[in-house]
Amino acid sequence: IFRINSCRAKTPPGPRPLPFVGTIPSFKKPFETIRSLSQYGDISAVYFGRKPMIVLNTIQITKEAFIQEAFSGRPFMPLIDWLSKGLGIIMAPFGHSWRQQRRFALHTLRNFGLGKKSVEDRVLEESRYLIAEMLKAEGKSVDPQHDIHNAVSNIICSIVFGERFDYDNKRFSYLLKILNNHFMLTGSLAGQILNLAPFIRHFPGPHQKIMQNFSELLSFIRGEIKEHKETLDPDSPRDFIDAYLLEIQKQKSNEGSTFNEENMVMSTLDLFLAGTDTTANTIRWGLIFMIQNPDVQERCHEEIVRVLGYDRLPSMDDRDKLPYTYATVHEIQRCGNIAPLGVTHETTQPTKLRGYDIPKGTMIMTNLAAIFSDKEHWKHPDAFNPENFLDENGNFCKPESFIAFSLGPRVCLGETLARTELFLFMTSLLQRIKFSLPPEPQSIDMNAILGVFHFPQSFNIVCHSRD
Ligand code: HEM
Repeated sequence: IFRINSCRAKTPPGPRPLPFVGTIPSFKKPFETIRSLSQYGDISAVYFGRKPMIVLNTIQITKEAFIQEAFSGRPFMPLIDWLSKGLGIIMAPFGHSWRQQRRFALHTLRNFGLGKKSVEDRVLEESRYLIAEMLKAEGKSVDPQHDIHNAVSNIICSIVFGERFDYDNKRFSYLLKILNNHFMLTGSLAGQILNLAPFIRHFPGPHQKIMQNFSELLSFIRGEIKEHKETLDPDSPRDFIDAYLLEIQKQKSNEGSTFNEENMVMSTLDLFLAGTDTTANTIRWGLIFMIQNPDVQERCHEEIVRVLGYDRLPSMDDRDKLPYTYATVHEIQRCGNIAPLGVTHETTQPTKLRGYDIPKGTMIMTNLAAIFSDKEHWKHPDAFNPENFLDENGNFCKPESFIAFSLGPRVCLGETLARTELFLFMTSLLQRIKFSLPPEPQSIDMNAILGVFHFPQSFNIVCHSRD
């Protein structure tokens, strides 16, 4: 207690921690508690066990910190280390390997169409499949989760593995379930307890399921890599895995190369993981907000049909002509807020922030829950209202506080892809389908599933064709 108290005197203000467990267990309603941390000012601290974590509560201080390399590390977490061993991109520590893997992934994704027409075409083709699948159950009450996850995942799969999977593919459906489960479990209490008391990994318990799921995901990736090796044509790489296999060959004699089989497995898995549940759950929030705000849904549909008619497919060039729809997609991201604390950073060297001395190895989080509801920056902070992203002339405008993809050296690598997917999927769906609540149940549980991410609970919808 003495140690905690003397440490607290030097760290930013925040809720009083409990001995051994810190502040986290008192987060009964995590989303609300996180948001309320802004009462302590721009910068606050919570405790993970005995370790202080700095929480950045405003856009100004997040910018000040996150543009610096000193704030661009990733923390050592026993669970993550157990799983990814510091390889790949997302949880890799700041340094040479992370830089090489990230640069290569960005470059290769661009070569395979990221930010270009070819990715738009893939999304449009997939949205045709998705619409057809949803309309198979026209008028019936259905849970759209699997179709949406399958559709979104097919985009990153076609870039990384060179193939898409049909919605009734049993093996892939099972994999998507595991993926979903992986996010739930790692963000759950069982995952956090494992981080606090890593020795429990040797004992039975729900945390064993995390490892089992992860092994199944790894064996899927390894299977894909094996098939790619057998059919690789060095003159025409088909996808990310082919490009990586060729890079390993190319860098063989380079001593500083971090291109090897294990990094390839983790980088590939990172793209698959990050490229599926994030965007898919945002679209699920989108359907929920459309059902709860039928006036917004109608206004988007009318705008889309006025500009595109019923048959012309949307393109990213249509954004300026569809300001209300584009604003609605952003408002879905603001209110859905799937990563309310972003992904945790860590200081890579001793540094200072607003007069506080921050030692090397301090965990840093950005409080998107507070930033996205800051009364000074949003016209309607507490309501779903696309006007938040429109100026007085009805043109789209993006407030600087909208940082759903973070910023600085660790900014989301898939931002361009995610923006393309969100706009094109949502626009195509709203063009062709009317979404409504089923007769039973007459409401949707708006409490997100408890965990690190803010993903919606299961819900049912009814689809009607607009044709
Ligand atoms: C990292 C958000 C979609 C790949 C991140 C981070 C956030 C984020 C907040 C952490 C940034 C930081 O550490 O400061 C989102 C959201 C998405 C989305 C809201 C969709 C709505 C995607 C997609 C991909 C992707 C489609 C696939 C290519 C990554 C990767 C990282 C990352 C690889 C790690 C970057 C690094 O550590 O250097 N994302 N993301 N994300 N995202 Fe996304």
